[in-house]
Amino acid sequence: MKITDTSDLWWKTSVVYCLDVETYLDSNGDGIGDLTGLGSRIDYLADLGVTCLWLMPFYPTADRDDGYDVTDFYGVDPRLGTHGDLVEIVRTARDHGMRVIVDLVVNHTSDKHPWFVAARRSKTSPFRDFYVWRDEPPENNVNAVFPGEESTLWELDEKTGQYYLHSFYSHQPDLNIANPTVRDEIAKTIGFWLQMGISGFRVDAVPFLIEVPEGKEFADPHQYLRDLRQFLRRRSREAVLLGEVNLPYREQTAYFGSGKGEELTLQFDFNGMQAMYLSLARSDPRPLAKALRARPAIATEAQWANFVRNHDELTLDKLTDKERDEVFEAFAPDERQRVFGRGITRRLPPMLGGDPRRVRMVYSLLFSLPGTPVLFYGEEIGMGENPDVAGRLAVRTPMQWSDARNGGFSTAAPSRLAAPLPEGGYSPAHVNASAQLNDEESLLHFIRRLAARYRISPEIGWGEVEILEHDAPSVLAHSVSADVGRMIALHNFADEPARVTLSLAEEPDGTQLSNLFGPDRFELDDRGRVECELPAYGWAWMRVARPGDGRIG
Ligand code: GLC
Ligand code: CA
Repeated sequence: MKITDTSDLWWKTSVVYCLDVETYLDSNGDGIGDLTGLGSRIDYLADLGVTCLWLMPFYPTADRDDGYDVTDFYGVDPRLGTHGDLVEIVRTARDHGMRVIVDLVVNHTSDKHPWFVAARRSKTSPFRDFYVWRDEPPENNVNAVFPGEESTLWELDEKTGQYYLHSFYSHQPDLNIANPTVRDEIAKTIGFWLQMGISGFRVDAVPFLIEVPEGKEFADPHQYLRDLRQFLRRRSREAVLLGEVNLPYREQTAYFGSGKGEELTLQFDFNGMQAMYLSLARSDPRPLAKALRARPAIATEAQWANFVRNHDELTLDKLTDKERDEVFEAFAPDERQRVFGRGITRRLPPMLGGDPRRVRMVYSLLFSLPGTPVLFYGEEIGMGENPDVAGRLAVRTPMQWSDARNGGFSTAAPSRLAAPLPEGGYSPAHVNASAQLNDEESLLHFIRRLAARYRISPEIGWGEVEILEHDAPSVLAHSVSADVGRMIALHNFADEPARVTLSLAEEPDGTQLSNLFGPDRFELDDRGRVECELPAYGWAWMRVARPGDGRIG
C-alpha cells in the first residue's frame, strides 16, 4: 500500500482523545467544567501528542443521560460556554496541530426537545412524523440496551394514546429517518458544525440511527449512511464520521460501505477490545490474535479506531457467557463493578490491580495495533473510577490535575462538583497530572512517548497486520507493513519473562531490528532468525531496518 496523497486522510495516523467538557476543567468556580477551562489545557493535550480532540456532547440538554439527550442540536449548553468559546477552542487546537470532532447524537432527541414537545401535543402536529409512533406496542417490547434501567422499547404517550419508539431511555424518543425533513435537519446540523470549524463527528449509536422502523418506507438504510457521507464530503474534504457500531465484524463491514470510504470513515473495534480483555484475563494472547486475524479487510479510505476504555460500560457483549464470566471474575469480581449483565464500570488500572508493568503493556498494545488509537481522558495519568458511583458514570469523574482541593478541577465546594472525585489510592493526592508532568518515569510521560513513536511510525496506521508465529505462548507478536516499512511489536501477557524466536527469512540480508524505545539493535542470523527476551508483562516495538532504507529511529 502506498502512503501517498495523505492530506485528506489525516485520521489514518491521528491520536484521538475523548473528553467531556463538563468534567475537564472548571474556569469560573461553579463546579462545572467549561470551554474556557478546556481552552487553557490545549497545550497540555498537544504536549501529550494528541492530534484529534473528540468532545462528548456539549449541547443544551435535559441532562438525564449525561448530555446524550439533546434539546437543541445547534446550541452550546450555557453552563459550558458559548459558540464563541467553542470557536476559540477549535482555533487554538488548530494552532497546536489538533483537529476537533464532536459527538453527533441524532438517533434520538431528548423528550424536552421542542420537536418532541410539539409532536406529542397532537397526532396532527407537523412534528408528529419526526418520531416513530404506533397504536399498540409490538409483542416484543423489551429494551435490551439498558436492562435493569429501562424495560420497554415503546412508551405510551398518555395524551395522544399512541406509543413512541425509544431505543435507549424512554426520555430519548427515536427520530424517524424515513421522514425526509428529519434527514434534512440532520444534514443541516452537520453542515452547521462543519462551518464552525469542526473536522467531523463521532456518530452515536449508528445501527440504531439507520434502522428503519417497521412499516416505514425507506428502501436501504445504508443508502442513508452513504448520503450522509457524501454530504459531509461535499462540505469538507477532511471531515470524518467515526462510528459507534458494536456489531460482529462481519456486520461491521457493511458500515464502511463496499467501496472507497463510502459510509463511515472509522469504526471503533469493539470486538478486538473485548478479545483483548479476555487475553488479559487468561494471560494468553490467542483470543486477541484470533480477533486481529478475523478483522475484515477495509479500504485505504477507512480505518479502525482502537480503544481500551470509553465513557460507557466496558462492554463484553460479544464474548460467550463463559468467556464473559472469566473476564468478570478477573477484573470485576464484585457484582457492583458490573452493569447491564454485560459490562464493567471500572477503569483499567484498578482492574489490573494497579500493576504498572501490566498497565503499560496494555497502552503499548493500544498504540501498536493497526489503526488509530483513542484515549479517554485521564487514561494518560492512570485515573481510577469512583467505585461509589453506580453504573456508567463511575468512570466520568473530574480530570485530576493536581493534588489541590478537588484535584485542581474546580474551586467550588466539593458538593457542587459535576461529579464526585474518587477517594483512596486513586484520589488526586495519588494520581494527578501535575505530579506526573514533573516525573519522567510517570505513565503520562510513557504515553507521551508512545504517541510520539506512533506518529513517526505511519505503518501502524496504514499497514497490513500479520500475526507472527513463534515459540512463546504468552507473547503476541504482530507486524504492520506499508510502503514506508515494517514494524514488529511484542507483548508478553504473562507474569513471567519470555524468550521469543522470530523467523524473518523473507527480509533481505543485512536487515536488523532496531528497538524504538531503546538503543539496541538485533542482527538476524543467517537463517533470518532473531531472539528477543521480554520481562514479565514486557513489550517491545522494533523497526525492521533494511539495508539502506534511510529511516531514522
Ligand atoms: C451511546 C453513548 C451512550 C449513550 C447512548 C444513547 O451508546 O455512547 O453514552 O447513553 O448512545 O445516546
Ligand atoms: Ca464552570
